[in-house]
Amino acid sequence: MKSVKILNAAGGSPKVAVAEHPEPAPPKDSEVLVRMLCVGLDGTDREIVTEKYGQPPEGEADLILGHEALGVVERCGDRAGLQPGDLVAVVVRRPCREPRCVNCRNGRSDYCQTGAFTERGIKGAHGFLTEFVKDEERYFVKLPPRARSFGVLTEPQSIVEKVWDEIQRIQQRLIWQPRTALVLGSGPLGMLAAITCRCLGLDVRVWSLSPADGPDARWLEAIGAHYREADSSAGAFADYVGTLPDKPDVIWECTGYSPLAFEAMEALAPNGVLALLGVSPGERRHELDTNRLNMELVLKNKCVVGSVNAARSHFETAVHRLLQMEQRFPGALPRMISERFTLEQVPSIDFERITLKAVVDLIPPDRWDEWIRREDEEIAYSFSV
Ligand code: BGC
Ligand code: ZN
Repeated sequence: MKSVKILNAAGGSPKVAVAEHPEPAPPKDSEVLVRMLCVGLDGTDREIVTEKYGQPPEGEADLILGHEALGVVERCGDRAGLQPGDLVAVVVRRPCREPRCVNCRNGRSDYCQTGAFTERGIKGAHGFLTEFVKDEERYFVKLPPRARSFGVLTEPQSIVEKVWDEIQRIQQRLIWQPRTALVLGSGPLGMLAAITCRCLGLDVRVWSLSPADGPDARWLEAIGAHYREADSSAGAFADYVGTLPDKPDVIWECTGYSPLAFEAMEALAPNGVLALLGVSPGERRHELDTNRLNMELVLKNKCVVGSVNAARSHFETAVHRLLQMEQRFPGALPRMISERFTLEQVPSIDFERITLKAVVDLIPPDRWDEWIRREDEEIAYSFSV
């Protein structure tokens, strides 16, 4: 079957190619075989394609790319409860095999302690830019058919849901009624963080380098966030925060520009939470007034939390939240998907030129309904987040 592979992903300079890969054997027991409909691309894929971030499965040279999947169940093992035609997203991380890793042993490989986990399409396991994917049923999360046009956002939204889950747990330390959120960065993750905070009823500000009349800024304004084009000069961020009516109760750092993470500590309201989601490979040095930051955190009970990946439960919440977003802001989610490519086009994609979110179709969307089973969707998905 046709797949997008990073050739020689372990060494040298990565090369992207469309190549053949053996089809998975028929699913047994609790295994499920899924036909891929489309796969989203993100910054991690860009790094795998341009740098050397990806890692092939043990004993292999190449890595199949892609970790933001939307697919439809093709066949099930006789002990799997999904059915052919079910629309599904796929959990990314797989547990390590270390008996002493309590988190992997308890379904929370997103908190793996050994680092020996694998991630499909990223680290030590093939990804989803291929025609069929087989895995254990527990790694597939069912979506209602009406989520078809935005279901590919389930994986990035699961990252946002994990952060919100963590924030809520941390903030049980006090009586906390957040009113304002500040999102740094207007990439897909920043956009999803912003629309999530809108659904949570927060006043949302977004600070990002994109031009104020650009598509991301316009999308953000349309969902009721206040957008401000960032100025990269020294002190610009502090000046901007100074203009806000209140310091933000929550800050989402989604740029990966690490000095901003430290400036954000100061910008945060007392008792607030700063969540760091941005990845910053390579090295960067920056001088800081550490006494001042220390005082800010201590005297104002501020909390900084780093977060990566997500558990299955966050994928489930993500599905419900996306449905809620679509109800509240009709059309906003499908509009996030700015570019669609075919599998054959992937090797020539210029990641720098993606407008908002790019998706690769394994099957043209106008043909998806040939496979998606429609029924009982209202019954299974009637509770709200
Ligand atoms: C993925 C996560 C993953 C992280 C680090 C992100 O793009 O969404 O699932 O843990 O990259 O590899
Ligand atoms: Zn582990």
